[in-house]
Amino acid sequence: MKIVSTASEMHELSRANRAPGCRIGFVPTMGALHDGHLSLVRRARELAKFVVVSIFVNPTQFGPKEDFSKYPRDLQADLKKLSSLDIDCVFAPEPGEIYSQDFRTHVEVEDWGKRLCGSTRPGHFRGVTTVVAKLFNIVTPDVAVFGQKDAQQAFIIRRMVRDLNFDVEIVIAPIVRESDGLAMSSRNRYLSAEERRSATVLFRSLQKAQTLVGEGNVRVSSIVESMREIFDREPSAKIDYIEWVDSTTLEPIDEVEEGSLLAVAAFVGSTRLIDNWIVPAMSRH
Ligand code: PAF
Repeated sequence: MKIVSTASEMHELSRANRAPGCRIGFVPTMGALHDGHLSLVRRARELAKFVVVSIFVNPTQFGPKEDFSKYPRDLQADLKKLSSLDIDCVFAPEPGEIYSQDFRTHVEVEDWGKRLCGSTRPGHFRGVTTVVAKLFNIVTPDVAVFGQKDAQQAFIIRRMVRDLNFDVEIVIAPIVRESDGLAMSSRNRYLSAEERRSATVLFRSLQKAQTLVGEGNVRVSSIVESMREIFDREPSAKIDYIEWVDSTTLEPIDEVEEGSLLAVAAFVGSTRLIDNWIVPAMSRH
């Protein structure tokens, strides 16, 4: 497992490993790796012969009042976790390697970045698409794997790739959960023991929605109302949003559709958590 810290070395390594039938797989991360990330890496391993994982806490996707400075960073622990996964390269640049002092160019998928999480985190998705575009240009992957946990992010990146003709396949891998249903997230480590217990409310509310859809309910407003009642019983959790949107447009829908995205964001204490459900083909009566 080669550890690379400069863009030029990374670019050269990818160039040297590009060959007919040898796909380059890529998993971009901000480190603080957990089993959710490792599942993305395993998926990339299945899809590509040469696998690169990046570890870079991207400053441009954090708002001024967000957790950039306290975001967990432990490169040695991350490298240890990755060493058992048979990957080829870790790209771990310093911020100055990615953003020069006079950096001025950004990539933005218009409107989509303002919806859902974007309404509470203005500029967040512009930061994500900008860094992912740069990482794609540096790593030049054939396939990149993103987690469904950040479904809006994955859909926005897929749209950026389509709109800007990036030659990379975007694969979205399933959410990995703790045994009580909490979606794995690097931010779960901010939770106190009591908050950790409450945090399952996101998953419980999504389960309620799944049950209601399974019983044939299709009115989004009444399903969301039932989800809100579950949050009402968990005073340390405050809903940021519950939205049901069409996955291809991110526009809100009134009736449940196959393939639509039910997304939830909530503050548990001061930690903002997200979770979602993509309605599968079988759920509708
Ligand atoms: O999902 C993340 O960890 C980040 O948003 C990403 C895709 C690595 C970009 O910084």
